[in-house]
Amino acid sequence: MKYFLIAGARPNFMKIAPIHRAFATRRNGHSTEELLIVHTGQHYSRNMSDDFFRDLGIPEPDINLCVGSGSHAEQTARIMMAFEPACLEHRPDWVIVVGDVNSTVACALTAKKLGIRVAHVEAGLRSRDMSMPEEINRLCTDAITDLHFTTDAQAQENLLKEGVPSEKIHFVGNTMIDTLSQQIGRAREVPLPDGLIPGQYAVLTLHRPANVDSPDRLAQILGAMNVIAGRIPIVFPVHPRTAPRLKELEIHPSIRIVGPMSYLPFLGLVARSRMVLTDSGGIQEETTVLGVPCLTMRPNTERPITCEIGTNILVGTDPQRILQETNSILNGHTRPSAIPQKWDGHAAERIVDILVHQSVEEASLVGALAIGAEPKPGGRFDVIARP
Ligand code: UD1
Repeated sequence: MKYFLIAGARPNFMKIAPIHRAFATRRNGHSTEELLIVHTGQHYSRNMSDDFFRDLGIPEPDINLCVGSGSHAEQTARIMMAFEPACLEHRPDWVIVVGDVNSTVACALTAKKLGIRVAHVEAGLRSRDMSMPEEINRLCTDAITDLHFTTDAQAQENLLKEGVPSEKIHFVGNTMIDTLSQQIGRAREVPLPDGLIPGQYAVLTLHRPANVDSPDRLAQILGAMNVIAGRIPIVFPVHPRTAPRLKELEIHPSIRIVGPMSYLPFLGLVARSRMVLTDSGGIQEETTVLGVPCLTMRPNTERPITCEIGTNILVGTDPQRILQETNSILNGHTRPSAIPQKWDGHAAERIVDILVHQSVEEASLVGALAIGAEPKPGGRFDVIARP
């Protein structure tokens, strides 16, 4: 069996690292699975990509599509155009995609149209907010996925409601938390930036288009951050999307602006912080596991479990609400929280077990359907023998 494991953007790298490791462990036991890492190049800078491969011990990608930045249509189309010949050349049996970025949907769609089976890791998350590009990517990917690996029960329910048969859904846990569990010891050893004292600073991240592409919205959020900075220093690792938009804005001297951080320093920073203010998806999960209070500056979340049992509170972008919840945390009013079921560091092992135990017969038949086959009327493919 040959698998492609796809990564494109920063949050993907933490999700593929444990899957790669689980395959490698199995190979040491002489299994015949072949895994090729495909990097689409959606994120390409050293500090958005290469540093993560190094920190997480992921080998150099076997295939790099080098697509770079662009509008959504350009980026998605470039990935599809570059990924199709890679599929035709290497003929994988499965394409494993993770998360909800443009690379996820582009590779899923390309593979599926070639008759290659698609497995989606982190399937079934829904914000119900169609203004988020990620929500569109999630819906499109899950609509054509053959195997859905979910992080919680709500994701499974979402998929069932959308008509996905239950036998295609596997509740395995969270591969991002696998990586956190493996790396947290090293992360806590990374020295904090000069002058920061554990438990006495906050961390801020902002990169959602809805928050940073609108000057008014960004000014409103930063206005609240300037007030908070009067109470507690804030470290703000700035995403490349956000950086140019900060130039015109007034920023409190206690907000320390730094460039994008690689995985270990950032995880170490968050783990020792008093609280996090963010609009990220993955950070809501990481703070829940670390037990660090998190205020998410969005009107909705595709990860409601982090609010139900974790440390996450949705505060939207109203400055009054942000300040009220921040003051409450800084005054010591935090609620008890727990770690969601199966976020135990073993999700990737479960995923690889399920993938390799799929019927070899069925999988090789589906692999043979693939490449170059003409669809029959009704959308079926002819079965052709693999060369
Ligand atoms: C993408 C994902 C988002 C994810 C985020 C994490 C989609 C739709 N969005 O958003 O879900 O949370 O990554 O970072 O896939 N840039 C660089 N260097 C890089 C990559 C990007 O400088 O290595 C700059 C470019 O100017 C680019 C901008 O960042 O235009 C935005 O990058 P892009 O990949 O379009 O989307 P993100 O906002 O990063």
